[in-house]
Amino acid sequence: MKPVFGDRCKVHVCVCTNERTDGRTACKDFGGQEFFKKLKEKLKTSGKISTHWVTRTGCLGFCNSVGTTVVIHRRGEPSQWLNEVTDADFDSVWQEIVRE
Ligand code: FES
Repeated sequence: MKPVFGDRCKVHVCVCTNERTDGRTACKDFGGQEFFKKLKEKLKTSGKISTHWVTRTGCLGFCNSVGTTVVIHRRGEPSQWLNEVTDADFDSVWQEIVRE
């Protein structure tokens, strides 16, 4: 086993895009997929995609009926778990992701 976080990745963001087909709601119903796509596109256009990674995930365990769940992993810092994240939060999440 070899630890790799930090070799290439400064920040890793996980965005829940979970979808359910059993009648229960999930983050996809509250903008998870759109938030993921917007964030990935902005990381690409800003030139940060090689060091600031974003991954879509399944359920992160904080389902709600407002927005998606986002986790920001930054080298050397505790992870930040954000719940009920909507498009209105995009700019503040972005600032947190790209801060030095
Ligand atoms: S479905 Fe996204 S946290 Fe559970």
